[in-house]
Amino acid sequence: MIWLAGNRPNLNGVASLSLQDPSNQPLNGRVRFDNVSLRRGGTAVFEGLSLDLPEQRIGIIGNNGSGKSSLLRLINGLLLPDGGSVTVCGYDTKAHRRELPRLVGFLFQNAEHQILFPTAGEEIAFGLREAGTDARNAEKKAAGILAANGCSDWLHRPVQELSDGQKQRLCIFAIMAMQPQILLLDEPFASLDLPTRKAISKQILSAPQQVIMASHDFDLLARFERIIWLDGGRVVADGAAGRILADYRRSVLGESELADVS
Ligand SMILES: Nc1ncnc2c1ncn2[C@@H]1O[C@H](COP(=O)(O)OP(=O)(O)O)[C@@H](O)[C@H]1O
Ligand SMILES: [Mg+2]
Repeated sequence: MIWLAGNRPNLNGVASLSLQDPSNQPLNGRVRFDNVSLRRGGTAVFEGLSLDLPEQRIGIIGNNGSGKSSLLRLINGLLLPDGGSVTVCGYDTKAHRRELPRLVGFLFQNAEHQILFPTAGEEIAFGLREAGTDARNAEKKAAGILAANGCSDWLHRPVQELSDGQKQRLCIFAIMAMQPQILLLDEPFASLDLPTRKAISKQILSAPQQVIMASHDFDLLARFERIIWLDGGRVVADGAAGRILADYRRSVLGESELADVS
């Protein structure tokens, strides 16, 4: 799978950005949570959460309401911490919120909330223009991106004619066109059929960006370097995929049911 024909994100940029820490502090990762507290609607979601997130692919698991979406939204600046700090490529999200859209691409759970334009070509071209491509080249490049991913026929098609999975894929193309350093994916497989899941999984595994993904797709997460398991806003387990996924399964299903499904 080719991500973006002739338009792969500049990985040198990733390396050099990670060295540009405005506070001149040494960086342990592209994303760092330092003693973060967050309240939402009167509920304490996080208290004293500290995390360094340097790995290329990180999965976030946990039951509904455990804080997965809140964690991702703290990274893209949609939420700001009430206490402590979140740092992205060296930029404190509170002090440098305007830097975040160019660093972080966020895939919403529902593609309908993301798509702004009437056709797939226009949606991708917008991302390209945001990343600095002029309008005429943006259109050409958008067509190239769709062609490279076997979706040439989407170029002028009304977005509303695409299926949910196709819309989700379109959102990924548009985000990638903006060449972010980090991809944040919030349960990207909700309501997708198997072939679309497969296509998106492939794209996630071949993306040159850092990927931080909330998901319960264990087959895909098994190939990630690190899994963080949240429960009630706390990290209950954090480490290599094999061990954490097995522990989570055991905890949710119980030993006997696990034997039944295996
Ligand atoms: N818009 C909101 N307003 C108030 N509280 C919210 C909102 N969204 C989520 N929460 C609360 O924040 C906590 C974490 O939710 P969330 O991050 O959405 O968890 P997850 O993504 O793991 O399901 C939950 O207690 C939830 O009720
Ligand atoms: Mg969520």
